[in-house]
Amino acid sequence: MSTPGLPNMPMPPLPTLPSSGFKLSKEHLLVAVPVAVVAAIGGFLVSHYLNRRSCKNCMVNMTISKDSPKVVHSFDMEDIGTKAVYCRCWKSKKFPYCDGAHTKHNEETGDNVGPLIIKKKDA
Ligand code: FES
Repeated sequence: MSTPGLPNMPMPPLPTLPSSGFKLSKEHLLVAVPVAVVAAIGGFLVSHYLNRRSCKNCMVNMTISKDSPKVVHSFDMEDIGTKAVYCRCWKSKKFPYCDGAHTKHNEETGDNVGPLIIKKKDA
């Protein structure tokens, strides 16, 4: 056998690939299937855990004044008194004031939010 256009030279023999010798026996399957099932369940649980920790749709305000394009509250310093505690987690039922709902939010999400506390220096 020769290649057209090249001098009449013999082709080298194709190398033969050695057999891998890999055979999947019933014993292998008895080990491999449970390992694969445990790995799949573990992957699912890790994925589920990581997804739960992240936001679902990246909104922070799920309930407060949703009919308004922007939620804004304004207070005069003179009206605050000696101390005011404002919500920053958007979970308070008394929004814009903190009602402690951030504690449950932090426990459920792993977050670390807390209120904004404004007070007079001598209070
Ligand atoms: S309830 Fe939201 S910061 Fe406390």
